[in-house]
Amino acid sequence: MLFIGDDPNLFAIFFCVVKNKVFERQLLFCSFDLKLNIKLESIKSLRMKKLTLIVVVLLVAFTMKAQVNVLQIDVDGGKTQINKNIYGQFAEHLGRCIYDGIWVGKDSPIPNVNGYRKDLLEALQALKIPVLRWPGGCFADTYHWKNGIGPVADRPKIKNVFWGGTVEDNSFGTNEFLNLCELLGCDPYISANVGSGTVGEMVDWIEYMTSDDNVPMANLRKKNGREKPWNVKFLGIGNESWGCGGNMTPEYYADLMKQYSNYAAMYGGDKFQRIGCGSNGSDFNWTKVLMEKGRNNMDGLSLHYYTIAGEGWDKKGPATNFGEESYFLGLKKALYMDELVSRHSAIMDQYDKDKRVALLVDEWGIWTNVEPGTNPGHLFQQNSMRDALIASSTLDILNKHSDRVKMANIAQVVNVLQSMILTQGNKMVLTPTYHVFKMYNVHQDATLLPSSLICEQYKLGTDQIPAISSTSSVDKNGKIHITLSNLNPSKEIKLEIDLSGKGFTKINSGSVLTATAFNSINSFDKPETVSPVTFKNVKKLSDNKLEVSIPSKSVVVLELE
Ligand code: AHR
Repeated sequence: MLFIGDDPNLFAIFFCVVKNKVFERQLLFCSFDLKLNIKLESIKSLRMKKLTLIVVVLLVAFTMKAQVNVLQIDVDGGKTQINKNIYGQFAEHLGRCIYDGIWVGKDSPIPNVNGYRKDLLEALQALKIPVLRWPGGCFADTYHWKNGIGPVADRPKIKNVFWGGTVEDNSFGTNEFLNLCELLGCDPYISANVGSGTVGEMVDWIEYMTSDDNVPMANLRKKNGREKPWNVKFLGIGNESWGCGGNMTPEYYADLMKQYSNYAAMYGGDKFQRIGCGSNGSDFNWTKVLMEKGRNNMDGLSLHYYTIAGEGWDKKGPATNFGEESYFLGLKKALYMDELVSRHSAIMDQYDKDKRVALLVDEWGIWTNVEPGTNPGHLFQQNSMRDALIASSTLDILNKHSDRVKMANIAQVVNVLQSMILTQGNKMVLTPTYHVFKMYNVHQDATLLPSSLICEQYKLGTDQIPAISSTSSVDKNGKIHITLSNLNPSKEIKLEIDLSGKGFTKINSGSVLTATAFNSINSFDKPETVSPVTFKNVKKLSDNKLEVSIPSKSVVVLELE
């Protein structure tokens, strides 16, 4: 018996035929229930044997070409929880993210709730954001928090030196951010200033935000109208300290991080988790040094990775009107997240086999050229169906690694890179990426179900990527959610889903996000071009099997129970 394996590789099959070494072969192709016994002993002539085998092989190959997509889900085998914080967001003082995005001010003609833009607030509430990172980004290492508290009229104006030199009036500061988190029902993730700040400035901030004692900073907070401390869960110690946050070596940063981290623990106790600044994409040495020197001083280590769908940082490619090459490249680069996370996790495993230190991908997303005619320092970009697929396939990767990855924060929540929301005057659009996050929030805190996916490739020229991406999870009420993305822009794909174990009794619901083109966007004039609709192309075959036809370039979510 020869097991040809789970890759339907025609060459391998032909190789067997030409060699003709074995007279009885059982070809097992993946798990397709496609079993073939070829009794060649009964055929006398060698020529006939070869011919018969060739015909059979061609038949098999033809059948397999027609259907090679199977997702097997182990319904009873879940062990790891998908941390809801993987669905985290990032708000930076950059361009129109804070001012003119989240915050319009109490006197704005745009409807607002105490200065927060009302339509945006409601849309973010519906998104169930678990955690929000602030105030940067590169901005964080220039931010002096005391400029942003107290009576607004007394707050100094500052120049945002990283992002276009824009002057900000500091009307959105610590109180405004932490109150926003309460309105959204999410945990705040504060990035402390290590690049141009001091340990003293950080511990004062910790005291201002989290202390209930009779100490100067807690009293200052009370004077500013907030009696009770806020619940701050995460504290980042610097941002991109290898670059915009101070140009440090990993060794130097590790020492500094330990100092900041120890004082943070002294003033904040175990109220929050301390996050060390992590690597720039594939700088594996940074992770190694941080784990070697600093693993006992941090609860998490971050990682930043941006998808560039163009030639490089100087030519990142447009966010709209791009061709299939850029579509393909964007997806391929996004899928690199899997290798990155695997390799950083493997390094972390060497020092921390119990996985106490979490990996936090606290900046990710597609970064394109700015929209023509907008301030280059404000990084405002549109968002397309391609970006929705980048979001879904990246979330699938992060879910898969949820034994180590405990948080991720897509950049940025509004009006910047891969945003959830875009605003223009009193108009607002929900981007295709917003819809993906909303569809995927069923996985928040659910148990990841082990699965294996055998699927065809989406090919462009000589290059290829897997055409399907997926996550399966079961929530605390026993509902199974399966998210599926078809990355092929022009082919509907049939997928068989096999659920082992107790299976399911009914399909509760399904929705699909797709568009007429891979570069379709939601514009201010046509804000609903890319919006989810009910999904019907799903058939129950048995209590353990269903068949789904996933439209080209689409994201599907199914609920079974
Ligand atoms: O998201 C934009 C910038 O990208 C962030 O400020 C910085 O951390 C990263 O380089």
